[in-house]
Amino acid sequence: TDPEIAVSHTGEPDTFAYTTALKRWVPIINSIATDVQSSATAKDSESASKIVESLNRLKECVVNNAPVEPLQESTEIGSQYNEEMEQLRVKYGTLEWRNGPWLFTECLLYRKIHFFFAEHAEWKDYDPFRATKRRAFESSIENALKLTDGFFLSLKPFESQSFEDLHNADPEKNKELFIEVMLLSLWGNGSDLSLMPNATDEDLQRVQAKRSLEASLKRIVDNDFDELYASLRLSAPKNGQYKQIDIVLDNSGFELYSDMLLAVYLIESKLVDQVTLHPKDIPWFVSDTLPADIVELIDMLDIAVANSSLDVKLCEAGKRLSALLKSYLKDDKLKIKKHSFWTTAHPIGRIFQYGQDLANYFYDTSDLVIFKGDLNYRKLTYDGKWARTVTFKEAIGPLATDDKRFPILSLRTCKADVCVGLSEDRALELSKEPEWTYDGSYAVVSFNAV
Ligand code: F6P
Ligand code: MG
Repeated sequence: TDPEIAVSHTGEPDTFAYTTALKRWVPIINSIATDVQSSATAKDSESASKIVESLNRLKECVVNNAPVEPLQESTEIGSQYNEEMEQLRVKYGTLEWRNGPWLFTECLLYRKIHFFFAEHAEWKDYDPFRATKRRAFESSIENALKLTDGFFLSLKPFESQSFEDLHNADPEKNKELFIEVMLLSLWGNGSDLSLMPNATDEDLQRVQAKRSLEASLKRIVDNDFDELYASLRLSAPKNGQYKQIDIVLDNSGFELYSDMLLAVYLIESKLVDQVTLHPKDIPWFVSDTLPADIVELIDMLDIAVANSSLDVKLCEAGKRLSALLKSYLKDDKLKIKKHSFWTTAHPIGRIFQYGQDLANYFYDTSDLVIFKGDLNYRKLTYDGKWARTVTFKEAIGPLATDDKRFPILSLRTCKADVCVGLSEDRALELSKEPEWTYDGSYAVVSFNAV
């Protein structure tokens, strides 16, 4: 069962939930309509008009704060949304678009939009965010390659030594590299699609510099790196024992690229044998990764390095990354696993009820499940109005207590109201700058061993 905690609510002024529902949803719906209009062809223009009509109706509902209506989708997931909708209506007495639990209404918005497309055979698998995602990655590719060049340099020692040899030889240095790669993936979530294309060479060099490592650690308000590293190292592969890490992905583009580098590090350092990536099954929260985005990222990388205007060193690094990723995919060192649980509105703790097969899979095979990004964090912590000093363990409810629990790591830049795991001092200090939980400049590295 869910922990007893009030949750972020879009009807409460002075919360980020309220601002998001009021200011972000309508422009997002508008941009989808524009995309559909511009990509419709003569063949599917009739269904395109119907989709745009549905989008406009939904927009009116959001603008006028109309009561939410059940999903038309006749699937198991559709029924789960509709059941919860009824429960919430009873609990709150009313449930309107901009007057309801933020997590539920926002997930419902994307699920409804998906159904507008799914209704029409020609548009069933259409991703209205694909063009935006592609454009953003295209413009950040050169910067991404600059990181990759340095990244491969730091992996050099692993080519000749085993993880354990290297660790024993220089434990502190090895831990530092571990943290640096994790930080790259963590801040990949902050410097996401819209931010990263504008990063200058200097910005990127700073990201890699030691000084910046320290500065970025200061911005981590709940930092479990020590515990995490100790736990992974203790369980480093021995006697051919098989190890697996799962990454529940967030955004496509630069963040996905940084997650790929993390996967390469984990495998090349021999810390694990296999990494499984968990993308979404429907277009989700604009920039989230779909299986096709993973393939597309490698294709775009290939195209970029075939382009002779890039520096030779960068091209080499890109070719090497592309070849590695392809070989991992071929040898099942890197796997992709789709599941509909990720596009429900359920907090992750309900996985034992609504995603049992997935929970069993994590319990049986995974040594660590990494949850990327803000929405996953909201789902891990029930989007609850917890006191800042409540522990991550308490906020994740059954994920810390169920018999089939599994080790969890959240790498998240703070872009919502919820945040837990702070010390008394840190909580007091940050209470003076209320925007810290949602402006993306702070982050958490929250770990719960089993
Ligand atoms: O629309 C707001 C939101 O749900 C916020 O929680 C967050 O800022 C964003 O969308 C999703 O962020 P992420 O891609 O890190 O999950
Ligand atoms: Mg996202």
